[in-house]
Amino acid sequence: MEIGIPKETKDQEFRVGLSPSSVRVLQENGHTVFVETQAGLGAGFTDDDYTSAGAKIVTTKEAAWNRELVVKVKEPLAAEYKFLQKEQILFTYLHLAADRKLTEHLIDCGVTAIAYETVEQPGSNKLPLLTPMSIIAGRLSVQFGARFLERQQGGRGVLLGGVPGVKPGKVVILGGGVVGTEAAKIAVGMGAAVQILDVNVERLAYLETLFGSRVELLYSNSAHIEAAVKDADLLIGAVLVPGRRAPILVSRNLVKQMRPGSVIVDVAVDQGGCVETLHATSHTNPVYIEEGVVHYGVPNMPGAVPWTSTQALNNSTLPYVLQLANLGIKALATNQALAKGVNVQDHRLVHPAVQEVFPDLVA
Ligand SMILES: NC(=O)c1ccc[n+]([C@@H]2O[C@H](COP(=O)([O-])OP(=O)(O)OC[C@H]3O[C@@H](n4cnc5c(N)ncnc54)[C@H](O)[C@@H]3O)[C@@H](O)[C@H]2O)c1
Repeated sequence: MEIGIPKETKDQEFRVGLSPSSVRVLQENGHTVFVETQAGLGAGFTDDDYTSAGAKIVTTKEAAWNRELVVKVKEPLAAEYKFLQKEQILFTYLHLAADRKLTEHLIDCGVTAIAYETVEQPGSNKLPLLTPMSIIAGRLSVQFGARFLERQQGGRGVLLGGVPGVKPGKVVILGGGVVGTEAAKIAVGMGAAVQILDVNVERLAYLETLFGSRVELLYSNSAHIEAAVKDADLLIGAVLVPGRRAPILVSRNLVKQMRPGSVIVDVAVDQGGCVETLHATSHTNPVYIEEGVVHYGVPNMPGAVPWTSTQALNNSTLPYVLQLANLGIKALATNQALAKGVNVQDHRLVHPAVQEVFPDLVA
C-alpha cells in the first residue's frame, strides 16, 4: 500500500506520524511510504534518515496526502481539507467532539477517519493510543512544575528535592491514574514529599503496592483536598471522568489560600481542567499568575518533547498502521480495537460518543 506522511501544520506541533524506524518496518512488509520533506525535522529526524529507512521524500503536501493511507498526529486543519478523499484512510488524533467543522467535512468527503483517541481494547476500557501521551504528560508535569517553582520563573524558589537540613517541596496530585502515577514517580525520584488523592479506592490500593509508604495516599473529598492543597508547592491536576468535563475540585477561594509563588500544573486542562482559576495556555505562553499562584495549562504537553513523543506514539500505533497497510479497511473486520477507532466512514458519523455531541449529523 502507498502510505503518506504529511508535515504537521498545527502551531508548535513538531511530532510526525511515523518515525524512520516505523517506515523501515512498513517497507520491509512491502509498503511504500511517502514522507513530505522536513516532516520529521522538528522531532529530530532528517530527510536522509527517512531515505535510509526506505521512504520516498516528496516536496509537496499534495504528494504526501494523495495516498490510500495517511498517518498523522493532529487533526487536519482547514487548509488541509482539500486533500481528504473517498477511498482514503486517515489515521490520527481527531478529537471530533470539539470540532464540528471538521466532522462535517469528513462526512462530506467520504474518507474513513480513524481516531487514535477512540481506539479501545475490547472489554477493558483501555485506550492504548492515549496512554503513551498520558505517561509523557505526567512525567513532564513535575519537570515543568519544578522549573516554574524557580524564583526567576515567578515561583516561590523551592527546590522540590530539598537538601539535607532543609525540607523538600510538597507535591499534591489530584487523580492517581496514568498521569498521576507517572507524575508521582518523577516527584518521588526528585525527593519531594508527595500526596496523591483519588476517589477510586482500588486504585489507591494499587498505588500503595507501587509506592509503599513513600507516597501519602488519600481519598479525594473536599476536606482532604482543602487540607492537602493549602500548603502544596506544586499542585498537579490529573483527574478524568471518562466522557465528561473534568470536575472542579479546587475553587478560587482555595487557590487564594495557597502560598504566593506556588505552582499549579493542570494536565486535565484538555477536559476543561479541575482548578477554577485555570484556563488553557500554549507552549509559546505557558504560564500566567492569578491569586499570586503560577498557573500552567498547556493542553498538548507532549508536543514539548517531540523526539520522545513521536517514538512513544509510534510504538503504540505501528501495529495498527501495519494492519491497515496490509488489509486496508478489511482490518476493521478483524481488529475490534481498531474498529472502535472509526469515527466517520462512507459519509456517515459512526462513533457513538461523537454522535451524542452532534445528533443532527447522524444519517
Ligand atoms: N495536557 C496534556 O497534554 C494531556 C496529555 C495526556 C493526558 N491529558 C489528560 O490528563 C487527564 C488524566 O488522564 P489519565 O490518562 O491519567 O486518566 P486516567 O483515567 O488514567 O486517570 C484519571 C484518574 O482520576 C481519578 N478521579 C476521577 N475523579 C476524581 C476526583 N473527584 N478526585 C480525584 N481523582 C479522581 C480516577 O479515579 C482516575 O484514577 C485527562 O483529562 C487526559 O485527557 C492531558
